[in-house]
Amino acid sequence: MYFNDPQSHAWDALVEAAWKGWEHAHAPYSNFHVGAALLRAGGGIVSGCNVENAAYPSSLCAERTAICAAVAQGMKPGELKALVVVTEAPTLTPPCGACRQVLAEFADDLPILLVNRHHRTLHSLADLLPHAFTVRNLNA
Ligand code: THU
Repeated sequence: MYFNDPQSHAWDALVEAAWKGWEHAHAPYSNFHVGAALLRAGGGIVSGCNVENAAYPSSLCAERTAICAAVAQGMKPGELKALVVVTEAPTLTPPCGACRQVLAEFADDLPILLVNRHHRTLHSLADLLPHAFTVRNLNA
């Protein structure tokens, strides 16, 4: 599978799953709907969406709901292989800092595809979060 090419059909199922997640976004406060989908080692795909709350800081990003759903299904560190984030925003939506940190718990590096209705760009977690704090630092 060619996750190093943003146009590769390898991304198709993940992009579709991310838009499926997007349809479920609960974002009545920001009205900024986000979908995400991740690929697990072994080929499983897990979707996420942002879930906002009337107590605003209790809101969750789409990337983290996808991670939590996957962990609840048994995903372990090292088993996160790719991530897609979709919005309808004209400017592609990158994971926030907190989500980058949570992603780094489950992958040393990770291809991350950002998608809207017109464009896509490919990034890597190592580029988005250099010098991540991880379990290795706890054990150093
Ligand atoms: N949001 C995400 O779900 N993922 C991102 O990558 C950026 C921001 C959500 C959080 C909040 O529900 C809304 O977008 C506006 O910040």
